[in-house]
Amino acid sequence: MDRAMRVLILDGSPGSRAGLRTMLAGADVNVVGETSPGPEGFTLARDGQPDVILLNLEEPLLRALKTLEAMVTNFPEVPVIAISSLASREHMRKAMLAGARDFLPKPLNRADLREALETVVRSEEKRQLFRQSRVTATPDHGSIVAVFGPKGGVGKSTLAVNLATAMAMAHQRVALIDLDVDQGADAMMLNLTPHKGLIDLPAGLSQSDPELLKSYMTEHPSGLHLLAAPTQLISPRDGGLPDLQKLLETMSSTYEYVVVDTPSSVNEHVRVVLRSATYVLVVTSLEIPSISVVKRHLDTMRGWEFARDKIKVVMNVPNCSNSVKKGDIEEFLDVPVFWSIPNDPKVGEANQHGTPLVETSPRSKAAEAITALHYTLTGLKPESHGAARLLKPLGLGRR
Ligand SMILES: Nc1ncnc2c1ncn2[C@@H]1O[C@H](COP(=O)(O)OP(=O)(O)OP(=O)(O)O)[C@@H](O)[C@H]1O
Ligand SMILES: [Mg+2]
Repeated sequence: MDRAMRVLILDGSPGSRAGLRTMLAGADVNVVGETSPGPEGFTLARDGQPDVILLNLEEPLLRALKTLEAMVTNFPEVPVIAISSLASREHMRKAMLAGARDFLPKPLNRADLREALETVVRSEEKRQLFRQSRVTATPDHGSIVAVFGPKGGVGKSTLAVNLATAMAMAHQRVALIDLDVDQGADAMMLNLTPHKGLIDLPAGLSQSDPELLKSYMTEHPSGLHLLAAPTQLISPRDGGLPDLQKLLETMSSTYEYVVVDTPSSVNEHVRVVLRSATYVLVVTSLEIPSISVVKRHLDTMRGWEFARDKIKVVMNVPNCSNSVKKGDIEEFLDVPVFWSIPNDPKVGEANQHGTPLVETSPRSKAAEAITALHYTLTGLKPESHGAARLLKPLGLGRR
């Protein structure tokens, strides 16, 4: 959060409120109001627009729980932290059932209080992103996820390959199109040897040809279907690319997800994909040239007719040699960073071996980040306890 966190205190004891204020004092917290639990708290929550409410839960408990429930019902996007000297399991359970996001037993200490505030606010931010961002497919069409980045070498192919593999591993029907015809990196990252691919497709491919389309694709053991770029440079006698608009329509009628890995040179084909996509993941590294060129493209895309909120910035950190931080990127680009993928030496190894990281090293940091992104985009719930554990710190797991 770039601004001061707005906190509302609901506590029946003036002395305890003053204690809380002292603990919260600092430039990063703004106490927007304080009162006893009750109707006045409702008005302060409505007018003060807090990011988080601290509610003191003391006897008479029923009244305090009613206030808690009313706050959660009326302001579902404002997390409530219960604080109480009644710290039995039963009291905690009641508070959580009434909708508290956290419970802090008294006496409080400053560090715990601040950590709890930050955690619930961060988790709420993620929850809201999750709600806004879920890719919605029309009943008869899958979703198209374009992985885009106007700077070379920022991790587009790594993300596209691993995201598509994570989807396939979760039993989604998924296709990956490698639109970077000069590199053909996706086949190598998947250790596949395609015999046919994108440039071999007949120009007149129609909606009724999904079976024909499949014969141009190469299946990966995860179940993912790759429409590969040529593994050799296209010579002038080769035909150009098929009509991508039509291709995407046909593919999204067959697959639940179509992930498109795009080249860094932004040509007319890439523009068609960006316009058709349900979702555009704009990948940037922390390097200034990457961030600047992303800004130029974001400014252009804002002028296009498609919805701005389908564009999501993904910060991939293969090289952390400078001091640029997420907040700097957000300020410069004037959009939030939707997802971050950490720098992870396992990525290079996996790419070299042609084994997607999400499959071979699912516990590596980058694989965890990409798997969690996959769950956020698809709205699927992780099946295993392991995956549930991954989502918990992001606040995306079942509450
Ligand atoms: N999170 C990461 N941690 C460490 N290394 C990474 C990470 N992401 C990507 N890399 C490495 O960065 C390099 C570039 O990755 P990748 O090929 O995916 O980028 P790209 O944007 O597709 O490049 P191009 O523009 O050439 O298509 C690769 O060597 C890859 O292994
Ligand atoms: Mg690439």
